[in-house]
This record gives sequence, C-alpha cells and structure tokens, in this order.
Amino acid sequence: MAVLAPAIFVNHGGGPMPLLGDEVHAGLTKFLRDDVQKHINLKEWKAIILVTAHWEESQVTISSGKHHDLYFDYYGFPPESYKYKYDAPGDPETAQRVHNALKDAGIQSKLDSQRGWDHGVFVPMMLINPEANIPIIQISVLENQDPKQHYEIGKVLQQFRKEGIAILGSGMSYHNMREFRYGRYKDAAVNKEFDDYLTKVCTAENESERKAGLLAWRDQPGASEAHPPHAAEHFMP
Ligand SMILES: *[C@@H]1O[C@H](CO)[C@@H](O)[C@H](O)[C@H]1NC(C)=O
Repeated sequence: MAVLAPAIFVNHGGGPMPLLGDEVHAGLTKFLRDDVQKHINLKEWKAIILVTAHWEESQVTISSGKHHDLYFDYYGFPPESYKYKYDAPGDPETAQRVHNALKDAGIQSKLDSQRGWDHGVFVPMMLINPEANIPIIQISVLENQDPKQHYEIGKVLQQFRKEGIAILGSGMSYHNMREFRYGRYKDAAVNKEFDDYLTKVCTAENESERKAGLLAWRDQPGASEAHPPHAAEHFMP
C-alpha cells in the first residue's frame, strides 16, 4: 500500500533569486535545498500536484502535457536565469484524473497541455528535487481568490495523497510588494500576529476548526498587510 503522501506549502521567494545566491534569500535557499528534505521522503512520491500562485485563471487549470517547457515569468534578471532546465516529466493520466475528480465534486476545470511551468514550480523544485525525476502536474489558482472555493479544491486534491501523490502549494504566507521594495525588514520577523494565526489554524487537529479558521483568514489582524486587498494570490495555494 502506498504511503500517504504529504501536503506541504513552501515560500518560493522572489523570481529566480533563491537560485542566484541572493543574500536576502540565503535562508530560504537553505530551507528549500536542505530542510524540506528532513520532513519528507521524495522516494515515496509517485507524482506531485503543484499549485502555483503565479497562474491565476477563472477556472482551475491543470497542466496535462507529457513535457512542459519552463516559463520564465520574471523580468530584469541576469541571462543565466532564463536558461534553467528542469526536465521532470508531466503526467497526462493523473491530470485527467484530477480533472475528473473535480468534475465529480461539481468544480469546473480545464486541461492545458501547453503552458510552461512557471517560477512558482521550477524555482522550489530545482532546490527540493534537483534530480527532476518525479512527474509534476501544475495547477492554477482561481483569480477570484475565494477562500471557500480554494478550500473545496484542496479537498478534492487531497484524495490523491492516498496513492502516494504529494500536494505542494507554492506561494507565500506574507506577500506585500510595497514592503518588499522598501526592504525595511530584512530578515526580521514581520507580521507575527498573522503568522501566529496561520500556525494555529494550520496545525489545529480539528478539521472544522481548520476550515473555519482558513475561510475567515481575511478578517484577521495583519491579514491585509500580509496580502493587500485583491492581491492574495500568493496565499491561495
Ligand atoms: C471540532 O470543533 C467543532 C467546532 O468548534 C466542534 O463542534 C466539534 O465537536 C469538534 N470536533 C471534535 C472531534 O473535537
């Protein structure tokens, strides 16, 4: 019997910076490259359903090609950051089954065999699994940023964990571009109040409390600083 594969969430940093040896990203680079491994066993994973904050659609969209090129969806970085390769296979069969499972739950989705894997996919994966030997099914978030709909999508995806297919959410728990630009905080803890709330909610044993806590995220102290209004795409995964 397959081991129940994990559902995890990672911060993917700013553009390619975790891959470029950027000083501010050193802690994140180490986390993705060394620390994630301490919590998971990649050898047990048959595939990865990877939900990326950098793909917003009006309905859930699922990468369904056998192979996807990389989509360098960032601007103004050094030439080497447009030449990365990450040749993990796609998984058309699982993509189709995800599509069917969503349909069975009354959730509209569509398959896309063309769109490349964006940096929400390849930046963390190049560090977490440089061998690129586990198939990936890239999935979009919804542009409406509706917490209940994303929760329902998550409920459908989680059944695949029983088959050894991991769920990886790629975004950020704090994503305030204005504050990033000023860079006031450097490595200091920011917005501890909201962070503590998330930790409490996500580690609650009781599912109905987890659900209620996540659906009410927008009303929490610090929420609009962490994710300004209508700019919560990094939170949705
Ligand atoms: C979970 O929390 C809800 C709401 O607080 C409560 O009604 C329910 O009894 C709890 N369930 C368990 C198994 O503790």
